[in-house]
Amino acid sequence: MAEQSFQALEQAGWVAKAGEYDELFATITDQAIDPILGSFGAIDSKRVLDVACGTGHIAGVAAERGALSEGIDFASTMVAKAKGRYPKVSFREGDAEQLPYDDSSCDAVACGFGLLHMANPERVIKEAWRVLRSGGRYTFTVWCSPDQGGEFFNLVMGAVQMHGTLDVPLPPAPPVFRFADPGECTKVLMSAGFVDPKVLVLPLTWRAARPEDVLNIIYKGAVRTSMLLEAQTVQAREAIHQAILKGSEAFRKGNAIEFGFPASMATAAKG
Ligand SMILES: C[S@@+](CC[C@H](N)C(=O)[O-])C[C@H]1O[C@@H](n2cnc3c(N)ncnc32)[C@H](O)[C@@H]1O
Repeated sequence: MAEQSFQALEQAGWVAKAGEYDELFATITDQAIDPILGSFGAIDSKRVLDVACGTGHIAGVAAERGALSEGIDFASTMVAKAKGRYPKVSFREGDAEQLPYDDSSCDAVACGFGLLHMANPERVIKEAWRVLRSGGRYTFTVWCSPDQGGEFFNLVMGAVQMHGTLDVPLPPAPPVFRFADPGECTKVLMSAGFVDPKVLVLPLTWRAARPEDVLNIIYKGAVRTSMLLEAQTVQAREAIHQAILKGSEAFRKGNAIEFGFPASMATAAKG
């Protein structure tokens, strides 16, 4: 019940934010496409599945490189945008926990920044294992935590801890930075049956024109972080906003504000 509630909040959030996600967050997540696809080796004529595909860029770029790619996401608006952007690629609505694909039917499975939004990540990883052929590869990315050099999350989480609380009345959910821990990734991947896991950090960045853009990206392009801020009291939220606006100036480089937005990428093979 509680898990369904977290999943329902996530789904409603993504359905509402597909348009702005593409303009805001996809400018950061797109920087991970090359490393993700690179982890698969040659993808020409290979079946590449993009799970939690959002607006479809991993599947779209894979198709441009000759893959027979497909994407799946549970947010109807994300799928509609993906279809509009990449009309030759097949996208469908569906749940990463119950993939509508046959066993051993894919050569590679990607999940870009999806796992931290899943109520049952173990089930999602096991589903990726099921649909992969033997020798196929699974690669996912998540955000690094504030203490791993994530400047953006350091600023935002620091402001919440200083002026509000992390203990908000939201449905229970897996910790947001759980899979930024290489040991945890390795453990969960291996218990799903994967072999040869490797975890590395991708040094992604985000350039914003103004401090206000930081609030924009949270409220218009993100779901878990905006839920956290919306669950604060009005007074605490206002103090958090001010701390974020002021703190953003520390990252100013000339006319822009530049944040380190590192991601952790885990990749493993089906033996
Ligand atoms: C942060 S976005 C990532 C989108 C894209 N992969 C990228 O790299 O930009 C997270 C996506 O996960 C999707 N998602 C979350 N939980 C899901 C689930 N259980 N099944 C399918 N999609 C899910 C959301 O709808 C959203 O599009």
